[in-house]
Amino acid sequence: MLKNSINQITVIGSGVMGSQIAMVSALAGLKVYLQDISEESLKKAEESLSGHMKKRIAKGKLSSKEVNEAFSRLHFVTSLEEAVKETDFVIEAIVEKVDAKRQLFSEVDRLAPSHTIIATNSSTIVSSKLADVTNRPDKVCNVHFFNPVLVMELVEVVKGPHTSEETANTAVELVKQIKKTPILLNKEISGFVANRILGKIIDEAIYLLENDIATVEEIDLACTKALNHPIGPFALLDLTGIDVNFNIRQILYEETGDESQKPQNIIVEKYTNGEYGRKTGKGFYSYNF
Ligand code: CAA
Repeated sequence: MLKNSINQITVIGSGVMGSQIAMVSALAGLKVYLQDISEESLKKAEESLSGHMKKRIAKGKLSSKEVNEAFSRLHFVTSLEEAVKETDFVIEAIVEKVDAKRQLFSEVDRLAPSHTIIATNSSTIVSSKLADVTNRPDKVCNVHFFNPVLVMELVEVVKGPHTSEETANTAVELVKQIKKTPILLNKEISGFVANRILGKIIDEAIYLLENDIATVEEIDLACTKALNHPIGPFALLDLTGIDVNFNIRQILYEETGDESQKPQNIIVEKYTNGEYGRKTGKGFYSYNF
């Protein structure tokens, strides 16, 4: 049986996505556990979130009281058991590796109450690749946020063949509860809606660059000044992470055997050089933080 209302959620993985999902949820009034095996990553997450919140307070978008209350509801922990033992809803946001996620899902299934829904934030790994390691496949689904989570409003909820109607509905309600806009996909498809459309734009941008048609800056300008996109595809790759793009394409290629899904040369080159984008200070552009 599912509980009717969600009071407590757990986000696993304190990277950019996980930490901001946790913050958004705490701001909306939920008790939140943000769990990571790395103390250092949790510390970085807390610092980064504090920085974002300070800016919002300075702009008058949030009061210090709202922020302090949200932080008092947000618990940074390394213990998985502590993070999930009383939780209603888990959102996994760890590395995009099926094996790591399967192992985590199986542990969470063992440690969390029987009513708890276990969701993955992945947009490439559909939940049917994970549900079978649990004893509650009906309570497993994808709940996919966009980067930066503090700003982007859409969240895709994806129902696998194993996901119950009740679980999908609860996930949709949770998205509304944390003041985001849900769309519900009734069938699994890798990439879901937004990233499939975005992927086509990025592929074309890389094709134009690799064929010396225009530069990174010019292609980005075409998207911002002709199409009114907020940022161009290369600036966006730097924001979301070239490593993330590499891993996603690698998974798609391995799944389908389709050569056109392979990470393109420029992505492999940047990935191999450790130029992941904003997080490493260099990607298609250079950053000084
Ligand atoms: N994290 C959190 N908040 C951020 C941020 C970040 N990295 N960067 C900017 N912001 C916030 C700012 O604090 C500011 O907030 P307020 O309005 O509350 O003050 C707001 O965003 C606007 O910021 P700026 O004025 O500094 O800059 P901007 O107007 O250029 O906006 C942007 C920045 C929101 C990132 C904008 O460029 C944008 O919308 N870009 C497109 C993002 C996008 O397409 N995301 C989807 C990526 S695909 C994906 O996420 C899928 C996946 O599976 C990984």
